[in-house]
Amino acid sequence: MLCGVSLPIITATRYVLPLREGGSLPGVVEGNDLGTYVLKFHGAGQGPKALVAEVVVGELFRRLGLRVPELKLMELDPAIGKSEPDEEIQDLLIRSAGLNLAVDFLPGSFGYDGSSGKPDDATQARILWLDAFVANVDRSWRNTNLLVWHKNLWLIDHGAALYFHHSWMSAEKFTGLPYDATDHVFRDVAPAVPDIDSQLAAEITPELLTEVIGLVPDEWIAPGDRERYLDHLTARLADRSAWLPGGAR
Ligand SMILES: Nc1ncnc2c1ncn2[C@@H]1O[C@H](COP(=O)(O)OP(=O)(O)OP(=O)(O)O)[C@@H](O)[C@H]1O
Ligand SMILES: [Mg+2]
Repeated sequence: MLCGVSLPIITATRYVLPLREGGSLPGVVEGNDLGTYVLKFHGAGQGPKALVAEVVVGELFRRLGLRVPELKLMELDPAIGKSEPDEEIQDLLIRSAGLNLAVDFLPGSFGYDGSSGKPDDATQARILWLDAFVANVDRSWRNTNLLVWHKNLWLIDHGAALYFHHSWMSAEKFTGLPYDATDHVFRDVAPAVPDIDSQLAAEITPELLTEVIGLVPDEWIAPGDRERYLDHLTARLADRSAWLPGGAR
C-alpha cells in the first residue's frame, strides 16, 4: 500500500500539566517548535490503537471539511517529567517513551453543550453520518468531545472509534454493525442523514482512505494491518444499510 506523507514530527520539551478530565490522562506539553499540545500517550490504558483511530478518523474528518485540531507526532523522552510528583504520571511517561500523538492545544476553548448555539443542520448531519461510519461511540451529551473555540466547533477525541480493531472482528461483521444514535449529541437530525448519504459516501474514495491510513506511523501499527483498516472501512462504506442513521434509502 502507498504510504501517505507523514504527519509533522516534533519533540516534547516540557510537560506542563495533566488534563485530569480525560480518561486516558492526556497532558499539556510544549514542543520544540514552541507550540503547545495536548499529548495523547501510546502507553495509556487504551494503547496505541486509540492513537491509530485518532489519526485515521481525525484526518478523514478534516479532509471532509470538519474542524479538527492539527495533529503531529511527538517524540517523548520521559526525563521531561522528572519533576512531576505524581507517580501515575511518571509511569505513564516512562511507558510512553518514543512517538506519541500531539493535538494542537486550543487555548480558551470550552466543551460544547449546545448553550452557545448549535451548528447548522447540514453540519450536524455530516458529523452524525461520519461518527456512524467510523463507529464513534464518544459523542454524547455526557461527553461531547466537541470544543467551541473562537465561536467555531472543533472535533476531538476519536480514540474510541474503529473499535473493530481491538478484537479484529471481520469486515463483514463490522459492516453489519448498527450504529446506536440514541445517545449522539446530534441525534435529532438523524431523519435528515439519508439525504446527504450518497453525496458523502462518494467523497470517501479509496485514495482518501489509503492516504489517512498511511499517516499512522509504523510504531503503532502491526505489519499488514493497514490493509485490514482499508478493507473494513471500504466494506462498511459499500453497504450502509445496517448502520446509516435515519435508515437506508
Ligand atoms: N486540543 C485541545 N485543546 C484544548 N483542550 C483540549 C484539547 N484536547 C482535549 N482537550 C481537553 O481535554 C479533555 C480530554 O481530552 P480527550 O477527550 O482527548 O481525552 P481522553 O482521555 O480521550 O478523554 P475521554 O475521557 O473522553 O476518553 C477534553 O475533554 C478537553 O477538555
Ligand atoms: Mg474525551
